[in-house]
Amino acid sequence: MPKQLFIQSGAFPEISFAELHSVLLAFGLTKKYLTKYGDSVFLLNVDKKLTVELAMTIFSRLGGAVRIGEIVEDIDSFEMNSQQKSKITFGISILGNTERTDSSFLKKLANNIKRKLKENSTSSRFILPKDRELSLNAAQVIKNSILSEGFELLLIRNGNQEIYGKTLDIQDLEGFVSRDIQRPESNHEMGTLPTKLARMMVNLTGLKGGTIWDPFCGSGTILMEAAVLDFNFLASDIDSRAVIDTDNNIKWLLEDGQITNKTLYQAFQFDILKPNPDIVNKLKNTEINAIVCEPYMGPPQTRVLSVEYANKLLGDVKALYKKLFDLIDIKLQKRGIKIVMIVPSYKTDKGWITFGIRELVGKRWDLKNSSLTSGDLKWSRKNSIITRNIFILERT
Ligand SMILES: C[S@@+](CC[C@H](N)C(=O)[O-])C[C@H]1O[C@@H](n2cnc3c(N)ncnc32)[C@H](O)[C@@H]1O
Repeated sequence: MPKQLFIQSGAFPEISFAELHSVLLAFGLTKKYLTKYGDSVFLLNVDKKLTVELAMTIFSRLGGAVRIGEIVEDIDSFEMNSQQKSKITFGISILGNTERTDSSFLKKLANNIKRKLKENSTSSRFILPKDRELSLNAAQVIKNSILSEGFELLLIRNGNQEIYGKTLDIQDLEGFVSRDIQRPESNHEMGTLPTKLARMMVNLTGLKGGTIWDPFCGSGTILMEAAVLDFNFLASDIDSRAVIDTDNNIKWLLEDGQITNKTLYQAFQFDILKPNPDIVNKLKNTEINAIVCEPYMGPPQTRVLSVEYANKLLGDVKALYKKLFDLIDIKLQKRGIKIVMIVPSYKTDKGWITFGIRELVGKRWDLKNSSLTSGDLKWSRKNSIITRNIFILERT
């Protein structure tokens, strides 16, 4: 049994780290199991409580992790292990810091392994990373059946240190892509969250089951990820089209076999700014464990905004959230509920602007971000005008 496993994060290591930490907590495992190895690789200590099997289950729930694997203590025994088949496909990747000469080093290492395999009557082909990359991407590993037909060897670097790893599983890219582009409904004018970010936000609740409410559900991206993780949910939006879209997307998930009909959900029209008293009453009597949401942040932006316009958009977001917090604190009186929410920053001609979360929430809410990671949880695409800041709150 390996003593340590590694998990490689995707493009947003701080969010990934906080996500993994939250999921470990959800499974009753403390921080002591988790350490960082460089910026984008996390190590997990295996023991009786955190078995390899449980770690694989945890990995399969993550939106922000690309690979899980075992740390290989002795590289020679690793090669020996892979020599049982007569024909194999293998790959090699370098994670962490890289050097200029690494591509030729990878080729040499692959040829050495190929030769050694041949000496033991195993024919092999190796897959190298594309162009200037030094690590195979998830699609290459899946497409070439590397994990079922052979192995992927990893050199994991952190400054001057280097360890070896063997990939055990790779992210379910197909599932994420299908929910992103094959689902029947998407509303691009309103904006949809990337599915992996939606998954990370659901996991940041630190829950592994229960009921999640998205009061700005749009086409239901967050709730689709919640449903895949076996949460029940409530979907609401001011816009009746959003309610129908979410319902259609969930029905599609069911038809596609990605969820079972055990998922309980309700989708309904609800304006946070003018809450319907009958619905408020129903919500009061409904168990809700967490709210996960992204508010309306204005139309898609391609150019830097004026400060005035950005302030107007921020004012609208603030108004929505202020009402949401009042609703939970005063009308619904939900204790112990968690919120994972997005606050935008906008790029203006005078720099980035946003608002502080403390301006919005009273003392009844604990901000959890710093207990999960030392960095800020920020998500943005390259050259983007909007950054999504993620906050995790708990009502005391
Ligand atoms: C950015 S979209 C959410 C997109 C969603 N996360 C997704 O990925 O599909 C914001 C949503 O907030 C809704 N909204 C705006 N004002 C609202 C209000 N007063 N009450 C409830 N929903 C509102 C909009 O109709 C819109 O669907």
